[in-house]
Amino acid sequence: MRDISKEFDGKWALRDIHLSVEKGTIHAIVGENGAGKSTLMNILSGALTPNQGTILLDGRQVAFKNPQDASRLGIGIVHQHFMLIPMLKVWQNAILGIEPVKNNGKIDKKAALSMLQKACSDYAITLNFEQVVGTLTVGEQQRVEILKVMIRQAEFIIFDEPTSVLTPQEIENLLSNIKSLKQMGKTILFISHKLEEVLGIADRITVLRQGKLIGTLDCGEACVDQLVSMMVGREVCIEGAPLQISRGKELLRVERLCTDRTRFSAGLDQISFSLHESEILGIAGVDGNGQSELIEALLGLRKTSSGSVKKHGKELTGLSSARIRRTGIAVIPPDRQTQGLVLANPIKSNIIMGCEDSSLLGRHGTMKKRSVQYVTKELARQYDVRMPSLEALASELSGGNQQKVILAREFGLRESDLIIAMNPTRGLDVGAIEFVYEQLESQKKKKKAVLLISTELSEVLRLSDRIAVLFQGRIMGIVKRSDASVELLGRLMAGIDAEKDGCRYEEA
Ligand SMILES: Nc1ncnc2c1ncn2[C@@H]1O[C@H](COP(=O)(O)OP(=O)(O)OP(=O)(O)O)[C@@H](O)[C@H]1O
Ligand SMILES: [Mg+2]
Repeated sequence: MRDISKEFDGKWALRDIHLSVEKGTIHAIVGENGAGKSTLMNILSGALTPNQGTILLDGRQVAFKNPQDASRLGIGIVHQHFMLIPMLKVWQNAILGIEPVKNNGKIDKKAALSMLQKACSDYAITLNFEQVVGTLTVGEQQRVEILKVMIRQAEFIIFDEPTSVLTPQEIENLLSNIKSLKQMGKTILFISHKLEEVLGIADRITVLRQGKLIGTLDCGEACVDQLVSMMVGREVCIEGAPLQISRGKELLRVERLCTDRTRFSAGLDQISFSLHESEILGIAGVDGNGQSELIEALLGLRKTSSGSVKKHGKELTGLSSARIRRTGIAVIPPDRQTQGLVLANPIKSNIIMGCEDSSLLGRHGTMKKRSVQYVTKELARQYDVRMPSLEALASELSGGNQQKVILAREFGLRESDLIIAMNPTRGLDVGAIEFVYEQLESQKKKKKAVLLISTELSEVLRLSDRIAVLFQGRIMGIVKRSDASVELLGRLMAGIDAEKDGCRYEEA
């Protein structure tokens, strides 16, 4: 890519970018949220056209009018936010646009399935082709995206932040898959915020900052600290131990909570735990072991079959979701684009969504235009949302900046004493992660209770006072942070009963 520049609404998202990627290598791109990584990749895969600059493929100049053009030349992309149709099945999604047809014009399902089967065995992907995509975990959805790219015979494959939604086990599989793609002679562009991961897999690394190219390094000459300071322009520390303050009164008590087993959910099985003021309870576990069910059951979005949820001693099960939220619960949902934001609405209205009656925005239930303008502007500044303007649509934000809008609303505006956060740092750059950790601890100082559901073990260990481990809808054990180790949690996450092993674990 030569001299690539791209402008959105008078602002340069990219300026004079030169990127050259050698055949058969893995080339990583790193940079802060909003640095322009996805924009550059969207240009390379034909979804956007640059204002200026040229693309050369095998030495020949090419121009893409649309993603099909790029796909025909062997460029495939696994997007940061998936491009799947939730109500269609896996196999229907995978072949969308390249359906094999029979003589009578109907889709040849048999041919489609055998093509998919072959790709799955070639690239070690496991999927249930008949499952409806909307019911898949994010990890599985990503496999559908990868499958889509592979059956289109891509030689040049772009992965835009593929690991931020995956569990450690899935990450390991994906990375080894990417390495074997390289061995097959394919060329990979790889975007990630996890720098260790990048250093472990890439041959070369390009750093972007605020739309400009900062430099390209050989992996051998790079280290994490240097990459961080190239990306952020300062030093960042996200390591450390949970903030030590003594916990307050019991705020939430969940007892023997169950939800039904369905076709796509193993259900919750007798979940019990308590949560106190000024306490962070981490819920660890491999994705798909009941995390979403737990959040939905607590928030009244999923029917519970038995058990109770008491907040300040008051029963919540059976109440409507709206009434449950009104007891003062802030939520960072698992899927920012479908559950956390209305993408087609302006950033400003996303920041105040559901908090319209906040005393910061007006009085007696009437919002004041000036207060809304002032408060949203201030929150966007505090939470460092890098955006074209408050009036821009949420869909125009980079992935990490979308996450920051949710944080600004839930931490900055929502009146709450309980925070339920699922993977709050998903897709954030290191600087932003440091900020979120500080925010969670400052909420803890304000006597709030935090339920931190995270598939990142390091995050759970960094923040939690106690850690519960979910496995197949059950809590395998609740461990004090001081007793927790990666090994112990790993065993519980794999469903090995720690008590039998002589490990101590605390009752709920
Ligand atoms: N469709 C659009 N309209 C207006 N501005 C846009 C649009 N898409 C991206 N931008 C802006 O371009 C800049 C770069 O965004 P991009 O999505 O490329 O960032 P990124 O490096 O991928 O960040 P992240 O790590 O958060 O995903 C951002 O400031 C973003 O707001
Ligand atoms: Mg991006």
